[in-house]
Amino acid sequence: MALVKTIIDGQEVEVERDTWALDACRRLGKDIPTLCHHPALEPYGACRLCVVEVRKGNRGPWLATSCDLPIREGLEIRTETEAVLRARRTAMELLLAEAPDSPALRDMAERLGVTEPRFAPRQPDNRCILCGLCVRVCRDLIGVSAIGFSERGPDRRIASPFDVQADACIGCLACVAVCPTDAIRASDRDGVRVMETFHTELEMVPCEACGRPAMPGKMLAYLRGRLPEGVPCPALCPSCRQESTAQAVGMGFEAALTARYPEGCRTGAAAAESD
Ligand code: SF4
Ligand code: FES
Repeated sequence: MALVKTIIDGQEVEVERDTWALDACRRLGKDIPTLCHHPALEPYGACRLCVVEVRKGNRGPWLATSCDLPIREGLEIRTETEAVLRARRTAMELLLAEAPDSPALRDMAERLGVTEPRFAPRQPDNRCILCGLCVRVCRDLIGVSAIGFSERGPDRRIASPFDVQADACIGCLACVAVCPTDAIRASDRDGVRVMETFHTELEMVPCEACGRPAMPGKMLAYLRGRLPEGVPCPALCPSCRQESTAQAVGMGFEAALTARYPEGCRTGAAAAESD
């Protein structure tokens, strides 16, 4: 891969061509806020918090989102100019207006010196900031595309197709986990996973260890279908899964210790005394 020279806040560095500017800046320890970025997903450029100032030769400066800006030879980036900080604060005010009580947003707003938003929310009963993380995680990581953007302009929102039960949804909750504003409502009730925001209900299968509801049957079937043959995929609830992982790690650790110290492992004072 070809290397190119770029200047970040006055420091010349060499990076692989097309490295995202955000990654190159962060490698140098630059503190750049992001809300729609996830390292496992393609950039989307929605929140506009990651803006930087860019020049190339005698062109610029202009503001650009760094998460989807590929670095080319001679690009000069500045991460903390007055224009950059002002643009980030305005973007933050707009985002905070949508979900003013979100801890993730409040933390970030505080870092940027924003206390209260000047703007009114687009949809008062919807905390979504349209970062698109839920849609991308569902489509690109889970691979099911159960949800998407719906409507236009101020009515834009995340929804299941036609606002009815999402046939493709397996109830994995990846969208809930990745949402920075807790905008997606979902809960488990009487053995049913209810994804209220997406009008979707999924029967859960019982945990093989404790009998409590473990996960939607559809999710279990999906996981089993994607694992290589012979790889076990038991239906375990989150706490039994955690326990079984801890046990497996413990057994592995013990086996490793026994292999390393076949006569027993001496620790602390005992080891010091006999050495
Ligand atoms: S529901 Fe959450 S993750 Fe999805 S776009 Fe809205 S804020 Fe982002
Ligand atoms: S992180 Fe770049 S626009 Fe959101």
